[in-house]
Amino acid sequence: MEKVYVPPLKIQGIKTKLVPLIRETAALDPDSVWVEPFMGSGVVGFNIKPRRALFADLNPHIIAFYNAVKSGGITAPLVRACLEEQGALLAERGADYYYAVRERFNAYHNPLDFLFLNRSCFNGVVRFNRRGEFNTPYGHKPRRFSKAYITKIVRQVEHMEECLKECDWRFVCQPYQDTIAAAPEDAFIYCDPPYIGRHVDYYDRWDEASEKELCRLLRASGRRFMLSTWEENRYRRNEYMDTLWGFCHKRGQAHFYHVGAREANRNAMLEALMTNYNPATAQ
Ligand SMILES: C[S@@+](CC[C@H](N)C(=O)[O-])C[C@H]1O[C@@H](n2cnc3c(N)ncnc32)[C@H](O)[C@@H]1O
Repeated sequence: MEKVYVPPLKIQGIKTKLVPLIRETAALDPDSVWVEPFMGSGVVGFNIKPRRALFADLNPHIIAFYNAVKSGGITAPLVRACLEEQGALLAERGADYYYAVRERFNAYHNPLDFLFLNRSCFNGVVRFNRRGEFNTPYGHKPRRFSKAYITKIVRQVEHMEECLKECDWRFVCQPYQDTIAAAPEDAFIYCDPPYIGRHVDYYDRWDEASEKELCRLLRASGRRFMLSTWEENRYRRNEYMDTLWGFCHKRGQAHFYHVGAREANRNAMLEALMTNYNPATAQ
């Protein structure tokens, strides 16, 4: 099994399981720039580990967190100290403490509070309301920040620090249109937009017009690109696979997710990678 590095922030739709297939399918020369307009947790680009990259997202808190690691404002020892302190207070005061940090984060936007909330909120679902306030409820795990869990997160931050020393990576908060427009001629663009109609978050709205606009801009850019999307689940097929992305090459992988704990509720979702080049001959 290939080792996949898991980043410190978790964002819904995280593509950890697809990293090996994405890596195998990407057509990236060592000197070309990796451009990722919907970076989310960053798990894909961080594992591809290009020398030069532009990571972007509409969610300012993701970008602020990674920029703080890049500038040294957030370091692994600082993360350890913070999570130890916050973890102890969470164990003592439970929900009251979680909601106090949530309120503080919504007032001051401290990236370390974002990390704490990200790792202690309900089901790890990062959700912001229309006013841009983090509003996911408490995850009901007062003992969440065990020694081992904190060490795991600290190692994830250390790994980021190492990558940022070795590579030239930029993190920018902007809409995908601006990121595609900024892609240099030799760029490879990897897009993982929200799935249509599934959003639970203010920064994650996506509809048919967005999907069409993305397709138009990617085609017009003339850059090599790869799109992550879904092909079908047990209920329906993604119609845009044929109507919009039919000109692309396709690679797929089944992904199983559980609704509740029962095996009978194990549902398959076919994930797809769409490319405007033939991955079999591109490398
Ligand atoms: C499916 S997630 C990406 C997940 C990521 N590939 C990962 O593995 O963690 C989609 C991301 O797109 C961002 N996003 C949504 N609409 C956007 C837009 N119009 N421009 C830029 N980013 C956007 C969301 O904030 C979210 O982080």
